[in-house]
Amino acid sequence: MKKSIWVSIVLICSLVLSACSSSSSGNGDGGDKKGSDKLEIFSWWTGAGEEDGLKALIKLFEDKYPDVPIENAAVAGGAGTNAKAVLASRMQGNDPPATFQVHGGAELNEGWVAADKMETLNDLYEKEGWNDKFPKDLIDMVSKDGNIYSVPVNIHRGNVLWYNKKIFEENGLEAPTTFDAFFEAAEKLKAKGITPLALGDKEPWTATHLFETVLLGKLGTEDYGKLWTGELSFDDAKVKDAVDTFKKMLGYINEDHSSRNWQDASQLVANGEAAMNVMGDWAKGYFVNDLKLKVNEDFGYVPTPETEGQFMVITDTFGLPKGVSNADDVKKFLAVLGSVEGQDAFNPLKGSIPARIDADVSKYDQYGKDTIEDFKEAKLAASLAHGSAASEGFLTKVNQAVNIFVTQKDAKQFVDSLKSAASELK
Ligand code: BGC
Repeated sequence: MKKSIWVSIVLICSLVLSACSSSSSGNGDGGDKKGSDKLEIFSWWTGAGEEDGLKALIKLFEDKYPDVPIENAAVAGGAGTNAKAVLASRMQGNDPPATFQVHGGAELNEGWVAADKMETLNDLYEKEGWNDKFPKDLIDMVSKDGNIYSVPVNIHRGNVLWYNKKIFEENGLEAPTTFDAFFEAAEKLKAKGITPLALGDKEPWTATHLFETVLLGKLGTEDYGKLWTGELSFDDAKVKDAVDTFKKMLGYINEDHSSRNWQDASQLVANGEAAMNVMGDWAKGYFVNDLKLKVNEDFGYVPTPETEGQFMVITDTFGLPKGVSNADDVKKFLAVLGSVEGQDAFNPLKGSIPARIDADVSKYDQYGKDTIEDFKEAKLAASLAHGSAASEGFLTKVNQAVNIFVTQKDAKQFVDSLKSAASELK
């Protein structure tokens, strides 16, 4: 008994330690504290489909600045499940990493900027000539009260439905672009014993991600946007319709969804155990780089039902926290990350498209090329699941409500929880 307690304590301690510093291309002592000269890059990009782009970016930086030691301080967990908590406690303890991954929108502006934790980067944008190199909508997402606070490394699309080409071909199915077509295909697949839709909500954000794409499909960009400003109530008939549709979709998922993460769920589609998956295009990075699948041969993609012409934007950005000792080195890193070369090293591996408008399109596969074109034309919607649409406090409550809904399927209770969470909206 005693022994097992000690084993647990040692295990927990080692997990905490490894979570706080998973790998390093610098000196690797993992205990980087305020005042160190190492350039600590904090993100949640570790392993399976996540870290290839980051490694390429770090390599590019190290080639240019061999004298600046880097520490890759990534904390595992999709969508920042664990990293955001570690970051919050470090920021509170005045021990910020040199630079950290943060989504453009509320997560940055209502979070760290409002808390007065970030330096402005207007001078860096001036110096690098960036003000007309990023789309205005994107600069707005990283600005507050006329000041710019971070540099976008990418644009991810959230509303993508991935499907297994072979399964669709063998069953004479077309990729569904409407909810009716989705349910029609799902029924046929289910009758054949194939799981229609893969979900891995061990980390609850994945179900929120699916739900927000249904909201976007049912409400359209404008009304969807009104949810986060309080102009449209969560008991609006369209939201209820979205909730019912989401519930119906949950009738077609794999039974073991709550023990899988997003990679495990994507894998079901990759290996033919499930036909479809709704996930951001980091899934493409995973399919191509980790699983060695081919775009438009092994898997296909369409916007999630009824969201054609709409683009759920997720942008990963990096800024300069107040109080770091190596601000000049951080700016050097941000300059590389914001350069054409930096963006084109990172994004083809990450699955995202470049945030810059002048990147080299030839470096991207067909999915990337299509998405670069779509982004230019589409109506942009901010992702809730990925921190852009609303504050972290609201998102936490929505994640909890969604998680309960996935098991209990009580639509009224879910809408009530969304309504009460809305008190967190500013
Ligand atoms: C991030 C992506 C990441 C995904 C899964 C999102 O919140 O923006 O960069 O790949 O989470 O971890």
